[in-house]
Amino acid sequence: MSNYHIKHLEEYYQVYRKSVRNPEVFWEEIAEEHFLWRKKWDNVLSWDFSKPEVKWFEGAQLNITENCIDRHLYTRGDKTAIIFEPNDPKEEAEHITYRQLHDRVCRMANVLKDKGIGKGDRVCIYLPMIPELAISVLACARIGAIHSVVFAGFSSTALATRINDSECKMVITSDGSYRGAKTIDLKGIVDEALEECNSIESVLVAKRINSDINMKDGRDHWLQPLLDDAYHDCVPEIMNAEDPLFILYTSGSTGKPKGMVHTTAGYMVYTAYTFKNVFQYREKDVYWCTADIGWITGHSYIVYGPLCNGATTVMFEGVPSYPDFGRFWDIVEKHKVNQFYTAPTAIRALAKEGVDHLEKHDLSSLKVLGTVGEPINEEAWHWYDDNVGKKKAPIVDTWWQTETGGIMITPIAFATPTKPTYATLPFIGIQPALMDEHGQEIKGNQVDGRLCIKFPWPSMARTIWGNHQRYKDTYFSAYDNKYFTGDGALRDEVGYYRITGRVDDVIIVSGHNLGTAPIEDAINEHPAVAESAIVGFPHDIKGNALYGYVTLKETGEGRDHNNLRKEINQLITEQIGPIAKLDKIQFTNGLPKTRSGKIMRRILRKIASKDTGNLGDTSTLLNPEVVQEIMDNAL
Ligand code: WT7
Repeated sequence: MSNYHIKHLEEYYQVYRKSVRNPEVFWEEIAEEHFLWRKKWDNVLSWDFSKPEVKWFEGAQLNITENCIDRHLYTRGDKTAIIFEPNDPKEEAEHITYRQLHDRVCRMANVLKDKGIGKGDRVCIYLPMIPELAISVLACARIGAIHSVVFAGFSSTALATRINDSECKMVITSDGSYRGAKTIDLKGIVDEALEECNSIESVLVAKRINSDINMKDGRDHWLQPLLDDAYHDCVPEIMNAEDPLFILYTSGSTGKPKGMVHTTAGYMVYTAYTFKNVFQYREKDVYWCTADIGWITGHSYIVYGPLCNGATTVMFEGVPSYPDFGRFWDIVEKHKVNQFYTAPTAIRALAKEGVDHLEKHDLSSLKVLGTVGEPINEEAWHWYDDNVGKKKAPIVDTWWQTETGGIMITPIAFATPTKPTYATLPFIGIQPALMDEHGQEIKGNQVDGRLCIKFPWPSMARTIWGNHQRYKDTYFSAYDNKYFTGDGALRDEVGYYRITGRVDDVIIVSGHNLGTAPIEDAINEHPAVAESAIVGFPHDIKGNALYGYVTLKETGEGRDHNNLRKEINQLITEQIGPIAKLDKIQFTNGLPKTRSGKIMRRILRKIASKDTGNLGDTSTLLNPEVVQEIMDNAL
């Protein structure tokens, strides 16, 4: 028997050692015993980080939806696979059994095929958190189409960029979405985006808000009538282990978003195995991850990981504050949630509202609490532990990335003793390294450095869609023969890791990973703007908020600053989405630059954070005088 289910710390260390000493034997056992294969692999792993090229389970054939759905039909056909909790608590929740999920995924798959989608085609999914979202994802996987889910909070420009980058043939969307008390015109956003897109042949539209929308003849189709007419079974496409399963875009510090490509077999094995262990999921449990499926957290830990384990997974359409800040606790009580996985920004927002809402609800079902997305501060950690888990539910602080596909550094619930703000130990099979500024690995404990991973793991992204060179440059060039995460970390006296944050120009706002460059590009499109620089500064709830320094062209000099601020944020909203709006915009006569012309963000960051005690040596700057001016006028 392989060690599929780890129950205590000794066992963790034992399995970890095995996974590191002999990774191929280890992962082969896990893959062999717990998944359904149409054909077994010829080779467990081949890799070369210098290319970079990584292949897991080469030669194997499978379909991930057979693992997520079909194989459960005999044993769990009537078990609830997905609980859909609508935005409005007065609307009834929907319980979708594995058998019903099979039916709905197959119908959707047949609709896609009927509209000309086949293996390898890209399908863009731009949907709110309604069952059709999970079903579309799985339907693509059923027929071997590559899904590219775009978070339905993104703007039409952001959507168009992503559709064009991977040349999607189809968009699946809805007539609109509910978000708390608001409705959003999703179809309108899609129509606007498609003015810039040539590759789209058809648009499928799910009905959610019953709004009167424009349907373009020949291109747009209401989804439901097609589903009603479709056949309820669909033979799964047999995929090779390394066939792409999906593309998911993540912002970088420079340039356009990166379409991270995840492949089939390794992703399946790793997300399923981590899900089972990190959350200690048991057969009758109800698991709820509050993320949106538009992010990797939703892909791996709402859809694939849970379903592969035959779990019951909750999909919540709404927001934590609607109809009031007790909504999460209402849902926990209503569905008797056992594992609850959310983000530090949500925890902070809820903590600010006090404990009144919590006290009105029975949270005794909770066994495990999770957090992900950014470093969790000590105060939020304790609030979560004391008030939500009542000190009885371990907190799994899970560190990972879109690029890693699955959880990398984390406690295993009930096995790993937790420590506030620490993601603790590498998961089974994960080999982290901390690097110094000379590119040397820092050994030993009580050290800090830049976090790398020195050995492949099954769910790592294999490339950036259409740009393998960029994949190499971004992740495999900073350090020889290692994957560089972009994060800094420290390792304590017992080997626990604490992630200290990004060391590049990515800023995490409310758990959303935002690159500075695309935001600066948006600002610079304003006709009055000459130049801009964005930095993050600490924010009580969002973790970080954005602070922009903007220099104006001569033509912009007489303009009213408040109007300009509004226009700049409007541009950002249009190009990226409201999430990237700036909290503060300071107009200045110049930006501090090195002699080679690089903006000194370090200084700007300190000023924005009101941490100007030690700005370091500014005398080598091209224009040291602007520093004083910026400090004098800081917001
Ligand atoms: C970045 C990746 C992976 C799910 C959501 C984010 C930060 C993520 C933690 C954590 C400290 C964390 C890192 C990472 N991050 N989880 N538990 N503690 N930092 O995915 O958008 O690809 O962002 O989020 O900085 O590099 P993502």
